[in-house]
Amino acid sequence: MKTTKTVTRRTLALGGVAATTSLLLAACGGGRTAEGTGGGDDAGDGGGFDADATVGVSLPWLGTQNWAEAQDLFTAQLKEAGFTALVQAADNKVPQQQQQIEAMVQQGAKAIVVGPIDGTQLGSALKAAKDAGVRIIGYDRLIENTDAVDAVVQFGSIRTGELQGQSLLDGLAERKGEGPYNIELFGGGPADPNAPNFFTGAMSVLQPKIDDGTVVVVSGQVDFQQAATQDWDNGKAQSRMDSILAANYSDKQIDGVLSPNDGIARAIITSCTAAGQDVPVVDGLDAETESITSIWKGDQYSTVHKPTKDLVAKTIEIISAYQKGEEPPAADETENNGTIDVPIYALDPVVVTKENAKEVFADDPDRLALLDG
Ligand code: BGC
Repeated sequence: MKTTKTVTRRTLALGGVAATTSLLLAACGGGRTAEGTGGGDDAGDGGGFDADATVGVSLPWLGTQNWAEAQDLFTAQLKEAGFTALVQAADNKVPQQQQQIEAMVQQGAKAIVVGPIDGTQLGSALKAAKDAGVRIIGYDRLIENTDAVDAVVQFGSIRTGELQGQSLLDGLAERKGEGPYNIELFGGGPADPNAPNFFTGAMSVLQPKIDDGTVVVVSGQVDFQQAATQDWDNGKAQSRMDSILAANYSDKQIDGVLSPNDGIARAIITSCTAAGQDVPVVDGLDAETESITSIWKGDQYSTVHKPTKDLVAKTIEIISAYQKGEEPPAADETENNGTIDVPIYALDPVVVTKENAKEVFADDPDRLALLDG
């Protein structure tokens, strides 16, 4: 445990949504287990569970490629590790995710992996899981305001934002000549604990350049709340970009846009092109297929790659240690989630541009195949 960060509380508006049934039941049943799973805060306390136990995975939605990849990888690799996999996605609806977690506990899950829709809204579902002795791992996103979380596996979210901000500056210098540069700022969904962190990381790089006049946010919309994109909805980002361009850029060129992920990056490029602008420098996140193609073509400037296969592999490594009743691998840092200091496994994200894409994807045949010619 090297460092401790503090999480700032966020406010959010929850849509009133009806819970519906789960989207995917990869495998279910079986895995009746021995007593004494050793759930709780102290990983590796000597408890363990059956090698074929049920492991639940509750993903927030399948609206971006990383979550769809996680669904496939967890389904295959939990099975390969001998577990009974119960992999579901919650369509960005908090009550649906709460119900899925409750059902996983009822079905005897011994570990549950959660990519929360809203990091703050799972307290009671996770408390019930913890009380039943279930191990709980946050996946890709922090789980907030509860002690019912054993660990979180993610890519550093502040680091991700720093890379996005720096890449935007690099792209401006490379493609848009001398500054000052006209830019706009976009953030992700405000309920997702990653989104404010991505923005904070990016602003730590951009703010000094705003202050010294190298970059100008023409709309003046520089706060996360103004820049956020509800539910990570690409359509909402595109509408906001349309409005900003109409109100501020009739006589100006837009040079660059900070984007929190690839889907929003492509929406921004579509909006700018439709408004008759040249393609601005836009960063991204997730190394999605369509964005790699766009980068290779010379449109989107960059993405940040956080390989899902590494995140899934690390998660399963930890679950396997719990299963055997062994100490899990050492965490990289801790982060205060509002209630406890959570052990965090923080993997390193990497920037991808046209220049280094072949190198970064050397061991990823699907992505490498997009880079022909
Ligand atoms: C993930 C991103 C993803 C976004 C929207 C974030 O929490 O880290 O990879 O693009 O959610 O799904």
